[in-house]
Amino acid sequence: MPPAAKSQKPDFAARLLAWYDVHRRTLPWRAPKGRRPDPYRVWLSEIMLQQTTVQAVGAYYRKFLERWPSVADLADAQQDEVLAAWAGLGYYARARNLHAAAKVVAHQMGGKFPGTAAALRELPGVGGYTAGAISAIAYDEKQAAMDANAERVIARVYAVETPMPKAKTELHALCSALVPDRAGDFAQALMDLGSAICTPKRPACPNCPWAEFCKARKLGIQETLPVKAPKMARPLKRGAAFVVTDRTGAVLLLKRPDKGLLASMLEPPLGPWGEKFPADALAIRQAPFEAAWKKRAGIVRHGFTHFELEIEVYVAQLLKRPKTPGEWVPRERLGAVALPTVMKKIVEHGLDEGGPLFVLRKPRA
Ligand code: ADE
Repeated sequence: MPPAAKSQKPDFAARLLAWYDVHRRTLPWRAPKGRRPDPYRVWLSEIMLQQTTVQAVGAYYRKFLERWPSVADLADAQQDEVLAAWAGLGYYARARNLHAAAKVVAHQMGGKFPGTAAALRELPGVGGYTAGAISAIAYDEKQAAMDANAERVIARVYAVETPMPKAKTELHALCSALVPDRAGDFAQALMDLGSAICTPKRPACPNCPWAEFCKARKLGIQETLPVKAPKMARPLKRGAAFVVTDRTGAVLLLKRPDKGLLASMLEPPLGPWGEKFPADALAIRQAPFEAAWKKRAGIVRHGFTHFELEIEVYVAQLLKRPKTPGEWVPRERLGAVALPTVMKKIVEHGLDEGGPLFVLRKPRA
């Protein structure tokens, strides 16, 4: 190793850790300074933080811990309860894997989480990067742990111009080479540096403990990194949804199939999704039963990873529940069932009594 590289490595880590010791964030899943974190909490938080922001995760993390304080408690939960508690966090396969992994740890490992990244990786839902993050934070194993904040820092310090997500492997390797003995603190310090100093826009370079090492800063290109791949145009799908209430205000919800998009989650009855909205007459034929359907003004929009969805909402208030499959969920329980964000938006739009309604004429048979 050339002398410069040899002497630079400890300096990187030491400077960052000195900064972290003063500026570390207090986060719900973070152990107090100098204390060992509980691997269950580290694992739970890292799974929640995959593709979700720190801000969005906080309340969910607290709710999960309160309800399931240990991995054995989570393993004993019903899948529907876990999906309901997860509703709103998105990417629901993560919740199913979380539950499956809890069962493996509780029933096959005596309740003890695996102690290395390699062993953690065997758990459902734990990929290579997540395993590294958990083992670094929980056990100080010398592993890189990178969220989007940390990736941005490393891309800038080394002026990596490869577009994301292709650059991920390179960034991970560059980061791995810097990890010191305090691997957990280093991992979290890098995330905090990206969140507080090395921000996407107008980074506060003069306050950065790595300013003098930063290649992007030297080149004046820090704000352009990491390079984002051009956004793929997402196809647009459109359809109708049917929000129906009984005389108590309970809403009819159906369970989605246990495979595919939003598997096993709840939804109001929906028509098929196509290029165009169905005309009202067709929409009413797509409805789950005959009723005095009215159409709500406006459109519900939602972005999925691979497509955009637009939904027109038809509503009906029934005096008598028809014989139809599904579950009638009281209004006050809507926040406590497995209703994904898109479906919650649709139901809320349907129930928005302030919004205008259009009365529809019954289609001719
Ligand atoms: N993103 C992913 N893991 C994280 C963590 N442990 N703290 C803050 N942000 C994160």
